[in-house]
Amino acid sequence: MSEPAQVIALEEIDSTNLEARRRLEAGESAPFWVTARRQTAGRGRRGRSWDTREGNLAATLLMTTDRAPIEAAQVAFVAALAVHDLACGFVPPSLVSLKWPNDTLIAGRKASGVLVESGGLDERRIWLAVGIGVNLAHAPKDVERPATCLADHMRAPPPPPHEAMRRLAEAFETWRGLWDRVGFSAIAEAWTRRAHGLGARCQARLPNQTLEGVAEGMDEDGALRLRLDDGTLRRITAGDVFF
Ligand code: BTN
Repeated sequence: MSEPAQVIALEEIDSTNLEARRRLEAGESAPFWVTARRQTAGRGRRGRSWDTREGNLAATLLMTTDRAPIEAAQVAFVAALAVHDLACGFVPPSLVSLKWPNDTLIAGRKASGVLVESGGLDERRIWLAVGIGVNLAHAPKDVERPATCLADHMRAPPPPPHEAMRRLAEAFETWRGLWDRVGFSAIAEAWTRRAHGLGARCQARLPNQTLEGVAEGMDEDGALRLRLDDGTLRRITAGDVFF
């Protein structure tokens, strides 16, 4: 197992993803985590914002890799599995599931999201900012679909962010090790066992169109297999899915 990545813990920042990238550019050596108690401009997928109030976890792992960018993006599923482990340590595992591509749901509502950003480092390597937001104590109210937080499903107080961070980093390392040793097929299989809505009808919002069909499963490269009503199979590689 490699050295644990150091954790840079901040009070407040615009976005841990942005800060991680700034620190890399300023010469910080990867891998490292950046966490913040509050984000003032937290970023979500597809240009959305992400609300991080005190008591929730906002964390970014800045890592480098010589994997090709398409393959490197699979790290988002590694992160989702780590969040699933974290959540299962505090709420009944039967309530916890993963929604394609990498949201963690508790009782069917979103409790966590992952935003991976990347860029070139040199001719051979890229950097990845694996940003993870977990609603530990608060769920945002002003969202399109009702969200939830760990606290909503616990009798005891939710874990403080530093404890959640420790567990998340440990779980991430375990799943990343599996990805390295065995390959993405092992990650895809683990993800599928925890998946929400496979076999169910869903709406897939893609960058340029919205499709409806049945979510059949995930391909070995992370694409969602969506069976349309006319029987054709579409591989979805980017977008949001709603059941
Ligand atoms: C999503 O839209 O579901 C992804 C949300 C990702 C939020 C996290 S919080 C830590 C990191 N910093 C950010 O600005 N965004 C990610």
